[in-house]
Amino acid sequence: MVLMDRSAALACIIISVILLLLLLPPPCSSDDRLVPGKPLSAAATVVSDGGAFALGFFSPSNSTPANLYLGIWYNDIPERTVVWVANRESPVTNGTTLSLTNSSNLVLSDADGRVRWSTNLTTTAGSTTTAAVLLNTGNLVVRSPNGTMMWQSFDHPADTWLPGMKIRIKYTTHAGERLVSWRDHDDPSPGSFTYGVDPDTLLQMFVWNGTRPVRRDGPWNGYMVSSQYQANTSDIVYLAVVDKEEEIYIAFSVSDGSPHTRYVLTYNGRHQLQSWNATSSAWAVLGDWPTWDCNHYGYCGPNGYCDNTVKLPIVPTCKCLEGFEPASTEEWSSGRFERGCRRKEAVHCSTDRFLAVPGIKSPDNFVLVANRTFEACAAECSSNCSCVAYAYANLNNSRSKGDTTRCLVWSGDLIDTEKVGEWLGSDTLYLRLAGLDAGKKRNREKHRKLILDGMSKSKEVGEGNHVQDNEFPFVRFADIALATLNFSEAYKIGQGGFGKVYKAILGGQEVAVKRLSRDSQQGNEEFRNEVILIAKLQHRNLVRLLGCCVEGDEQLLIYEYLPNKSLDATLFDGSRKLLLDWTKRLNIIKGIARGLLYLHQDSRLTVIHRDLKAANVLLDTEMKPKIADFGMARIFGDNQRNANTRRVVGTYGYMAPEYAMEGIFSTKSDVYSFGVLLLEIVTGMRRNCTCNIMGFPNLIVLSWNMWKDMKTKDLADSSIMDSCLPDEVLLCIHVALLCVQDNPDDRPLMSSVVFILENGSSTSLPAPNCPAYFTQRSSEIEQLRDNIQNSKNTFTLTNIEGR
Ligand SMILES: *[C@@H]1O[C@H](CO)[C@@H](O)[C@H](O)[C@H]1NC(C)=O
Ligand SMILES: *[C@@H]1O[C@H](CO)[C@@H](O)[C@H](O)[C@H]1NC(C)=O
Ligand SMILES: *[C@@H]1O[C@H](CO)[C@@H](O)[C@H](O)[C@H]1NC(C)=O
Ligand SMILES: *[C@@H]1O[C@H](CO)[C@@H](O)[C@H](O)[C@H]1NC(C)=O
Ligand SMILES: *[C@@H]1O[C@H](CO)[C@@H](O)[C@H](O)[C@H]1NC(C)=O
Ligand SMILES: *[C@@H]1O[C@H](CO)[C@@H](O)[C@H](O)[C@H]1NC(C)=O
Ligand SMILES: *[C@@H]1O[C@H](CO)[C@@H](O)[C@H](O)[C@H]1NC(C)=O
Ligand SMILES: *[C@@H]1O[C@H](CO)[C@@H](O)[C@H](O)[C@H]1NC(C)=O
Ligand SMILES: *[C@@H]1O[C@H](CO)[C@@H](O)[C@H](O)[C@H]1NC(C)=O
Ligand SMILES: *[C@@H]1O[C@H](CO)[C@@H](O)[C@H](O)[C@H]1NC(C)=O
Ligand SMILES: *[C@@H]1O[C@H](CO)[C@@H](O)[C@H](O)[C@H]1NC(C)=O
Ligand SMILES: *[C@@H]1O[C@H](CO)[C@@H](O)[C@H](O)[C@H]1NC(C)=O
Repeated sequence: MVLMDRSAALACIIISVILLLLLLPPPCSSDDRLVPGKPLSAAATVVSDGGAFALGFFSPSNSTPANLYLGIWYNDIPERTVVWVANRESPVTNGTTLSLTNSSNLVLSDADGRVRWSTNLTTTAGSTTTAAVLLNTGNLVVRSPNGTMMWQSFDHPADTWLPGMKIRIKYTTHAGERLVSWRDHDDPSPGSFTYGVDPDTLLQMFVWNGTRPVRRDGPWNGYMVSSQYQANTSDIVYLAVVDKEEEIYIAFSVSDGSPHTRYVLTYNGRHQLQSWNATSSAWAVLGDWPTWDCNHYGYCGPNGYCDNTVKLPIVPTCKCLEGFEPASTEEWSSGRFERGCRRKEAVHCSTDRFLAVPGIKSPDNFVLVANRTFEACAAECSSNCSCVAYAYANLNNSRSKGDTTRCLVWSGDLIDTEKVGEWLGSDTLYLRLAGLDAGKKRNREKHRKLILDGMSKSKEVGEGNHVQDNEFPFVRFADIALATLNFSEAYKIGQGGFGKVYKAILGGQEVAVKRLSRDSQQGNEEFRNEVILIAKLQHRNLVRLLGCCVEGDEQLLIYEYLPNKSLDATLFDGSRKLLLDWTKRLNIIKGIARGLLYLHQDSRLTVIHRDLKAANVLLDTEMKPKIADFGMARIFGDNQRNANTRRVVGTYGYMAPEYAMEGIFSTKSDVYSFGVLLLEIVTGMRRNCTCNIMGFPNLIVLSWNMWKDMKTKDLADSSIMDSCLPDEVLLCIHVALLCVQDNPDDRPLMSSVVFILENGSSTSLPAPNCPAYFTQRSSEIEQLRDNIQNSKNTFTLTNIEGR
């Protein structure tokens, strides 16, 4: 062992100490607390024990010199997300320090000692053993030596509401904390939006813009736990309203193991529930309010309500409460709801009834009547003629003086009502209606139920001539324009005589939007009425009309979107046609027949399609057919029955001769088109095929001749040869030939067609007369038709004799 020189050893020790000092992290930087005498500099942070949050200085913008704020943010995620700011109104510069004083105050002071922010506690208590601790919940707490909490940041919220944080209001003063938005995304000074408990009622929450309400949550009803935000099975948010003797507060918690979750009031006034997604390393927005336009406070006007229960893709929109109608139909159906709804029939007090409307977010401007049973609450309202509605709940927890009842009554207009569906947090609103109306309502419900139950029998939907205007969804043009990027080509999926078709996502789901060309002759009012009528035509073989839009000279229809393309795109495609074996084809034929029968006879409207063709039959996921574009003839203004029209809509080759040549249409012209379509489905050949092999000019002639020669089974598409039954093929061809007969009176009604297809055999049918057909191109036909109509003397059609 070699003994070291004493001085050398000392020097070594000193160097070691200096090295050690240099290697030590700066004081406090990894500690979770601040103690008197050890201020926090702008370069340092305090990190909670557990590592979830950090306290320190940050600069939200790139200004020079940097504007610094003291704040708390998440420490363990890469995106700097500030949840609390101390000096929101007075940014500081580098050189500022945060210190905890002997009197238990947190003080932010400039380099020159000027105080820029302080917790302002007036207590004299405190000592060097006081500490400010950043808890792992994100709460900065100042504790006195005996452990009592002197101050906490959770009592002074910024724009963020964290689990465990209470938003409170005092019974005595009606004063309470609110979330206050930032002014801008990079400016933490207080913005105009706030979120807190309604100081007037202490029963509901609001988002305000200044003093104006933006969004209201309905009044609490005693069911306090909500778990509807379930982004991840382990990520559930529990909201609770807690009613204490002196104050009421709302708080939330999340289940163990959940990712970071927070409510935030954004600088632009949105109230959001966000959850950190570690996979995408970003905040996922689980809730965003107001979600829809009509969730904005009072958007639907007096006595209107926002219907959130509509099935997407229809976007929730305004409706009138039962017994009310739009104050202005014109404004209402073009998406302007501010004037709301008026009573259809005045109430008369003694003869009135109350209608129970479940699943409601109760309207605003209620009066709380204390200590009432449900019966007493009902009596309170019905005995007072100016009371228009009531709602009752048992709050199930002790309110001040032990009263747990919640009897709400309304007089005057009902504002900011929403239909939210029947979940635990919703109310049943008891609505005063004139006696007669209440009776009507019941009948109508019964009628509707009957109709829905009997849907398979395809009965008329709706009640006589009563147009249920306010139940039909009108979508705003702006929403459609947005969803289609202003009708860009990329979204276009089709184009027809009536206009272009776009695929769009509205309210989260795919829809097909048809933007009608401008030559519709109808005014908006007529259009609206037609659409409402047509929307009532509901049958499983018709494409569903989901909504429409009428604004200015824009008229649009919104349909369900069917991903499996049209029959045209399937039947005549070499590989896709293999998807259609004989069983599927027969089902398609029967389905189209039933859909057409419904249009012709079973709906009281008698809709003549006028453009039935393979391209207008869409296939659903099970390859079941749905007829599209029905009712277009009505919309385009020709709503007479057996009428003579100047403008022939339709597709040459499918059109009955009397319609193509003379413009005469009837249900029998649809039957003709159906016959052509039937031939196409069986043969897999287009109607205008030249059928060169056999030397026939088109499919009808070919079929007629094959039938006459009893070679029908050779007509079946080669791809179904193995799967088809010759008798069924024969029956279909026979029916088709009956449908394409020259004389409309000879053609069967669709009811007969459906019957024959379901039950018939070819042997019991009459022999078809020879079919009519024509081969001219459309321009020639138009010219020919003009000649006919001008001279009115000849009617020429080529009748084909079989060979
Ligand atoms: C303040 O200045 C120090 C030293 O110049 C620097 O390290 C620190 O990052 C600055 N703090 C902030 C918040 O800009
Ligand atoms: C705080 O207390 C310490 C020790 O008790 C004392 O030295 C110091 O002067 C006090 N500071 C203030 C600002 O009162
Ligand atoms: C503390 O008091 C000062 C002066 O009265 C005031 O300007 C400041 O807003 C108060 N700070 C807090 C956090 O209440
Ligand atoms: C703890 O200290 C605070 C102030 O420092 C005082 O108000 C409170 O009474 C004390 N509590 C107990 C239990 O000593
Ligand atoms: C908030 O109110 C201001 C002033 O009244 C207004 O200009 C602004 O458009 C409002 N913002 C929202 C989102 O309502
Ligand atoms: C009512 O309160 C009791 C006791 O706190 C609780 O067990 C029950 O689930 C509550 N009921 C509802 C509907 O919230
Ligand atoms: C769901 O939560 C569990 C438990 O916290 C977590 O392990 C998992 O990664 C989460 N899944 C997603 C998709 O966020
Ligand atoms: C998280 O993000 C990933 C990637 O974007 C996504 O696939 C996943 O669904 C997200 N998880 C949640 C719970 O939102
Ligand atoms: C009836 O209701 C109105 C409005 O709520 C109220 O002002 C009035 O006092 C009530 N009348 C009686 C007799 O309770
Ligand atoms: C509520 O009303 C009942 C009967 O009317 C009465 O006995 C009770 O004391 C009242 N409770 C409160 C808290 O006012
Ligand atoms: C759609 O057109 C409007 C008005 O021309 C324009 O303001 C808007 O930016 C356009 N939107 C898109 C997505 O192109
Ligand atoms: C038949 O009509 C379709 C359009 O309906 C057309 O694309 C096709 O070229 C026509 N075929 C013949 C042979 O004319």
